[in-house]
Amino acid sequence: MTAVRKLSEAAEGTPPPRHFLELMDFTTPALRRMLDLAAAAKRRQVPGKPLAGKSVALIFEKPSTRTRVSFEVGIHQLGGQPIVLSAKDMQSSRGETLSDTAQVLSRYVDAIMLRTGDVNRIRELARHATVPVINGLTDISHPCQLMADVLTFEEHRGPIAGQVVAWIGDGNNVAQSFIQAAARFGFILRLATPAALRPPQALIDWARAEGATIELTEDPVTAVRGARCVVTDAWVSMNDEGTGGEGPNRHNLLAPYQVTEALMRHAAPDAIFQHCLPAHRGEEVAAEVIDGPQSVVFDEAENRLHAQKGVLLWALGEG
Ligand code: CP
Ligand code: NVA
Repeated sequence: MTAVRKLSEAAEGTPPPRHFLELMDFTTPALRRMLDLAAAAKRRQVPGKPLAGKSVALIFEKPSTRTRVSFEVGIHQLGGQPIVLSAKDMQSSRGETLSDTAQVLSRYVDAIMLRTGDVNRIRELARHATVPVINGLTDISHPCQLMADVLTFEEHRGPIAGQVVAWIGDGNNVAQSFIQAAARFGFILRLATPAALRPPQALIDWARAEGATIELTEDPVTAVRGARCVVTDAWVSMNDEGTGGEGPNRHNLLAPYQVTEALMRHAAPDAIFQHCLPAHRGEEVAAEVIDGPQSVVFDEAENRLHAQKGVLLWALGEG
């Protein structure tokens, strides 16, 4: 009993964990600090092994290539131990609550990354965890991706504030994190989506109230005109699968939104092309664009590794 009381007393005096759930939760300087840490990690200027003796649980309720490997390798390179957990192998798949899962894992590990199809699940996990919880993608957001995307833009084209970024296609989870990023990093975001696939109005209203410039259109050419960065993503996201929303109607709606060489010609002459991957050549992007000279998609994928090191160092108080 004494030991139990001591642990809970210690928890009461401890500052709240540094969760990384949504970009909107942070000030611009806090996000900039994480990007500075990311850039330092990329230049190998993070001394020693800052995560030595620390473990990070990586829970996947959805498939992943980049998120899984970049987190696993990044934690290892920082001296920590990654523990990859497929949700189907966990007791939560047999009904154990997220509250119990969060409290148990918090006794073993120093941080938890979760990829899930329901944002309420990561919110619930974070509510009960006493260690930082990191968002590795939900149905409405992908903040780690945006940290890598901003890092990639700035490496290629300098400060992103005031620049025009054009999002073409589905107003999905990544698009919604782009809206949050526009508010925090100060770039002008133009979204060209079919009306039925527009991101939620409440999020657009939030971003505008924060001072962001968010322009909405159904015309890809209008969105792309003069843009320094053109971005797209899969027409069918993981969360659309099995919902009936992934069928021919969606493809028909999105067919005019393929990023082609002809569309890229309307962007700034030095525009870069971004895609979080996985990509579907011949659907959201033409092979000539994603495999062409304007594409930075593999720098972007590499930068997941560095950006997440920045997030981890910040979350674990090592920055
Ligand atoms: N971009 C991205 O998150 O890729 P994975 O689904 O492979 O993790
Ligand atoms: N929008 C995509 C991103 C994958 C990284 C999805 O949610 O499936």
